[in-house]
Amino acid sequence: MIALETLAGGASGGTLYGIGVGPGDVRYLTLRAAGLVRAVDVVAFFAKRGAVGNARRVVAPLLEPDRAEMRLEYPVTDEIPAEHPDYQEKIGRFYRETATSLAALLRAGKSVGLLAEGDPFFYGSFMHMWRRLSPDFPVEVVPGVTGMSGCWTRANLPITWGNDTLAVLPGTLAEEQLVDRLRRTDAAVIMKVGRNLGKVRRAVEAAGLLKRAIYVERGTMDDERILPLSDCGEPQGAYFAMVLIPGQGRQI
Ligand SMILES: C[S@@+](CC[C@H](N)C(=O)[O-])C[C@H]1O[C@@H](n2cnc3c(N)ncnc32)[C@H](O)[C@@H]1O
Repeated sequence: MIALETLAGGASGGTLYGIGVGPGDVRYLTLRAAGLVRAVDVVAFFAKRGAVGNARRVVAPLLEPDRAEMRLEYPVTDEIPAEHPDYQEKIGRFYRETATSLAALLRAGKSVGLLAEGDPFFYGSFMHMWRRLSPDFPVEVVPGVTGMSGCWTRANLPITWGNDTLAVLPGTLAEEQLVDRLRRTDAAVIMKVGRNLGKVRRAVEAAGLLKRAIYVERGTMDDERILPLSDCGEPQGAYFAMVLIPGQGRQI
């Protein structure tokens, strides 16, 4: 039998690892992700101002107290719309500076594991580091169980059957765009619901899909909430929230 550590593989100095940590429950990390969280010289993670950092919280059970960590604190998150010039300016500078700090560690021969919620290549901040650093440094991306996969599993909701098409929509789209996209798909996942909850609910209703829509907050985490969207009256949702609309395709 192969030891878990051997299966997971080690970390190489000077390499950046984008580690997908899955939807929230630490047991959904892949072997490679868990192995790297233990093996890298520095565990780096993004965090909202004043918050622990969700990806950091997911892997907390795997971290020894003396691990070298690098907290990367966003100057701004959802307080300003992403299209606003202030947001673009602040976040652009933050990503440039963060890439410079990570590059210094990599140049010094350290292996750096940058944690990413869910999968790193799916709406992940990690991608902004990958874009800047992969031309100059070795980068390995470790896929993760996506938030949506964790959410539809916990909601006990098969999402696509037969020839169903699936649309993944950011809740930040304009209301009429959401309605239009929802009318043209069989199944949908609406991400980034948070502050957009009221608009998302109106769009789902306008597309005639409210009966089928399920709201999932912090799926797979300790404080997860799952309820029909129609019962979800609050004006805003949690940052980690999505709406799932299952397809109704061929069921034999
Ligand atoms: C910036 S995206 C990151 C997506 C992530 N890379 C993934 O693979 O799921 C953040 C959005 O993902 C969704 N999300 C991720 N994990 C979630 C979870 N466990 N429960 C509910 N929503 C989640 C929420 O809609 C949240 O606003």
